[in-house]
Amino acid sequence: MSDDAKAAVEVIHRRSGVERIEAAFVLGTGLGDTADILEAPIVIPYADLSGFPRSGVSGHEGRLAIGRLGNARVAFMQGRSHYYEHGNPRAMGSALETLALLGANSIVLTASAGSVNAGFPPGSLMLVSDHINFNGLNPLIGVESDHRFVPMTDAYDATLAERFRECGRHAGVALHEGVYMWFAGPSFETPAEIRMARMLGADAVGMSIVPEVILARHIGLRVAAIAMLTNFGAGFQGGDPSHAQTRDTAQIGALALRRLFRAFMNNSEDT
Ligand code: HPA
Repeated sequence: MSDDAKAAVEVIHRRSGVERIEAAFVLGTGLGDTADILEAPIVIPYADLSGFPRSGVSGHEGRLAIGRLGNARVAFMQGRSHYYEHGNPRAMGSALETLALLGANSIVLTASAGSVNAGFPPGSLMLVSDHINFNGLNPLIGVESDHRFVPMTDAYDATLAERFRECGRHAGVALHEGVYMWFAGPSFETPAEIRMARMLGADAVGMSIVPEVILARHIGLRVAAIAMLTNFGAGFQGGDPSHAQTRDTAQIGALALRRLFRAFMNNSEDT
């Protein structure tokens, strides 16, 4: 684990008095307010945590919130770093290491995304079953040691996915399931690219999640990912995405996400 991550853990211990967390979440664009489901949260700005991202994207807060949810102590990252901000696919590495050092053995990633599946309308949630790394970029390029050859066959943890399905049913939250395809952004896709994504087997397109999944698997975190579908992809079913639309629609979907996360942590024995 990096020195940055160890230093960040020290600060978190000192400021929050929390020794251990049981689970961790990353909240994407427009989804940061979901952290208000925490009881008695301690909030630490990323600026005070070495190795944490310095996000400049509106709709991303840049804070770590730690508090109680259901039976567990959990951490929410309110905001992430995206590849398109700096061209570094490893930018979330240290923050994920910090969460692992704090005791999390799983990470739940959330992000807004464009739907390329007519049955998955804007405003709905999609459990990510698999991904396509369309960028061909990899955060582990340059890492030395054979640990870099991370298997991705079961990158999305089957047990966590089943728990989300179950909690979705209990909480009355419809969860689609499908494949997420990573585009670098920050420009949105062209209609031709969206047609290609559909042909290649994607159900959703987005600008995050994938490098974080690879980094998380590299440090041994189990992964679940949920895409908040904020729009149809460019040219598909009339889709014409914009950042404002992404942010605003995500906030509407965040209500369902709160119900889902509450149910998820209430039935946690082994997060
Ligand atoms: N494309 C890429 N990323 C996105 C989209 C989209 O249509 N919507 C929200 N994030």
